[in-house]
Amino acid sequence: MGSVTVEVCCYTLEWNAQHVHSENLAGKVILELGSGSGFFLRRIYDALPEDAVYIAADHDPGKLRFLKGILEKAEKRKGVLFICCDFPQIPLKARSVDVLYDFTGTSNFSFEHREFLPRLVERFLKTEAELLGSYIIFRNFSPDSMVPIDFRPNFQIHSIKKQIEELGFIKKAEYTSDVVTKGGFAVRLASIQKSEWLNFTMFLTGRSIAVPISFQRITS
Ligand SMILES: C[S@@+](CC[C@H](N)C(=O)[O-])C[C@H]1O[C@@H](n2cnc3c(N)ncnc32)[C@H](O)[C@@H]1O
Repeated sequence: MGSVTVEVCCYTLEWNAQHVHSENLAGKVILELGSGSGFFLRRIYDALPEDAVYIAADHDPGKLRFLKGILEKAEKRKGVLFICCDFPQIPLKARSVDVLYDFTGTSNFSFEHREFLPRLVERFLKTEAELLGSYIIFRNFSPDSMVPIDFRPNFQIHSIKKQIEELGFIKKAEYTSDVVTKGGFAVRLASIQKSEWLNFTMFLTGRSIAVPISFQRITS
């Protein structure tokens, strides 16, 4: 991983973490799509209220075990549930999730699927759910791109924004990172061709219009 990529990934992580407001998470059910090795969860773990339920979903049992092992060493136990499943089949009750964290989970899913993942899990979200998402954006696709043409909209900013809006979220703010040219913990190296440029675009959430940086879900 090149140093520029490390810096971008770290800043991206930091920016997300800075916008996790623990005071809004008491008693909430939080779902993370693709907890992976837990860079995001480990960064925000201390800020999680003890009565929040954090569902770390991933289809890779090895990553879940690794993350569980690390978190078990933490000084304080938090309510983290590890669920090993394919995202669309997460065994959750409809309308049970208050907060959705999507730190490149959708982007990684999108290398192999045409569907926009937040649509597939929408039924699990409460009407006023919040979303904090970071998406990999391809600035260009090379002729030998590993991303099939049909799957590219989920790596293009206008399409991602449109789909999030269609799910009823109002954007309050976004941040776009510097360009990334190599894989890192949030981007699969094998998925990027040499001539392709990527960056991350983040949409941050808040629970009410008093929190200025957010997607807020419209209630009908
Ligand atoms: C880049 S990682 C996400 C990074 C993670 N959020 C972190 O903070 O470290 C993407 C994760 O999504 C998982 N994933 C990809 N496709 C999936 C699917 N269809 N169902 C469940 N998990 C999936 C992968 O196993 C991987 O751990």
